[in-house]
Amino acid sequence: MSTQVQSDVLKVLQDRHSVKQYQTGHKMPKADLEQLLKSTSQAPSSWNLQHWKLLVIDDQAQKEKLLPIAYGQKQIIESSVVIAILGDLEANKNAELVFGPAVEAGFIPKELKDNLIAQIEGAYQNPQVARDEAIRNASLAAMQLMIAAKALGYDTCPMGGYDAGKFVEAFNVPARFVPVMLISVGLAAAPARSGGRLPLDQITVSNSF
Ligand SMILES: Cc1cc2nc3c(=O)[nH]c(=O)nc-3n(C[C@H](O)[C@H](O)[C@H](O)COP(=O)(O)O)c2cc1C
Repeated sequence: MSTQVQSDVLKVLQDRHSVKQYQTGHKMPKADLEQLLKSTSQAPSSWNLQHWKLLVIDDQAQKEKLLPIAYGQKQIIESSVVIAILGDLEANKNAELVFGPAVEAGFIPKELKDNLIAQIEGAYQNPQVARDEAIRNASLAAMQLMIAAKALGYDTCPMGGYDAGKFVEAFNVPARFVPVMLISVGLAAAPARSGGRLPLDQITVSNSF
């Protein structure tokens, strides 16, 4: 059983590539969208602070508004939904929400919660830490979303090619959040062009540089 599960996961990882042409007009069923978002939310994060906000753009007029901001990339309007992955610059504010119920449920003692929160608040004194954490952890959610989408029968394209300033303005993104990437999700109309990968000996180092 576990071998089967593992090989399914490996196949999804192998098959995921960035799809740029989608079956236009397809509306993602609500249950699929919910499963996708739920699977995304299972991503790991530092201190479990869940430094992401997922802005789901499935309204065609909103996608048309986004199109020029994303430099005319057609996957914005042709995919079923575009999900903007935002990083939370104030994820320290989630600590009480995350650890409070854990104390109530008896999973962790109150002293541990207080220690963790003191540690987090200390780290968040540094804005660079807040930004690094926001982008690092939201990126893990982004990857998880793309893998979950593939497992659900959808394809995706991550996009960094957009004007983040204009995006923030057009979609009223609060200052608390930093745009990390856009991801189009939909049914492929044409397979991705695989870019290939560098050989392992170029991307790995054994034990130490
Ligand atoms: C952070 C990031 C930004 C990207 N931005 C764009 C983009 O703006 N437009 C696009 O068509 N593809 C974009 N891509 C897709 C990459 O070109 C693609 O992932 C890479 O060539 C590897 O191909 P594959 O995803 O098909 O395996 C982006 C990928 C990442 C991870």
